[in-house]
Amino acid sequence: EMSDEERNFQDRVDRDEKIEPKDWMPDDYRATLIRQIGQHAHSEIVGQLPEGNWITRAPTLERKAILLAKVQDEAGHGLYLYCAAETLGVTRDELTQELLSGRMKYSSIFNYPTLNWADIGAVGWLVDGAAIMNQVPLQRTSYGPYSRAMIRICKEESFHQRQGYDIMMKMAQGTEAQRRMAQDALNRFWYPSLMMFGPSDKDSVHSTQSLAWKIKIDTNDELRQRFVDQTVPQANYLGLTIPDENLKWNEERGAHDFSEPDWTEFFNVIKGKGPCNVERMEARVKAWEDGAWVRDGLMAHARKKTAARTA
Ligand code: ACO
Repeated sequence: EMSDEERNFQDRVDRDEKIEPKDWMPDDYRATLIRQIGQHAHSEIVGQLPEGNWITRAPTLERKAILLAKVQDEAGHGLYLYCAAETLGVTRDELTQELLSGRMKYSSIFNYPTLNWADIGAVGWLVDGAAIMNQVPLQRTSYGPYSRAMIRICKEESFHQRQGYDIMMKMAQGTEAQRRMAQDALNRFWYPSLMMFGPSDKDSVHSTQSLAWKIKIDTNDELRQRFVDQTVPQANYLGLTIPDENLKWNEERGAHDFSEPDWTEFFNVIKGKGPCNVERMEARVKAWEDGAWVRDGLMAHARKKTAARTA
């Protein structure tokens, strides 16, 4: 039932050829990529908010400089991704409008608050750790511009993860009060980090087709498992306890057994009912409105230039 074009397209994907912007592609492939890359871009942009919140309160000048650089990197990631999405025939402004009107999603994780400095460590360690776990395989995704954006992003993301782990190490080896803060941050960020990989495979509506098209390389559950297995020894090294009584090494599987996150909470958060959804969207709408004069000025300037050239 596949058309010749579709067959040829799938063959190219199966041979690991990259699909480029001007190549023929199925409409749904294009739409799925716009959805995923767009959501990914929005996540990078909204993801600046929980950490930006701590730039003015970083404990030392060095920590402040590092955090500032990291948050700027996230803006850059958002821009590479919007550019990758634009090669599919949408504009960044259109995608922004989809975000601001609530029609497009961004990652669930950024709807949780960062209450204190230990949370900045936990975000870097766990949230960026989960992000890399998901993004490293996406370097091999079938769509050329997305794959190339991922290569640059992953390099920076691994620095982000290490800076988070470094904060956690300082806290975990600090005073008793600091150690308690680190443990508390781990307790609050653990399950939301597991949710970043998306619903369990049986509830993942897009996975089958996205895997066939190599838009996704691994399933949500595969990546979640890999993240748990990677993070357990890191938590042990810090002397912190992952808040899961069922967490244990399963010799037979060669992997850890662990508790699933609360999926009701996950679906509530992605429907807009998480702890910070309203605040995050208000911040993005305000940023868009506050930037109107800059966009107007740039457009007026561009019009003057064109008029001068054609006069
Ligand atoms: N947060 C918000 N929405 C989510 C999440 C999440 N963590 N996980 C899944 N969803 C949504 C999906 O977008 C989909 O909704 P939609 O049809 O309205 O778009 C629905 O839940 C069902 O999920 P899936 O069928 O599993 O969706 P998908 O195949 O897109 O897989 C995944 C989700 C794994 C997040 C995938 O889109 C992906 O790999 N994206 C790229 C990575 C990314 O976006 N990272 C952002 C966070 S990391 C960072 O920015 C630092």
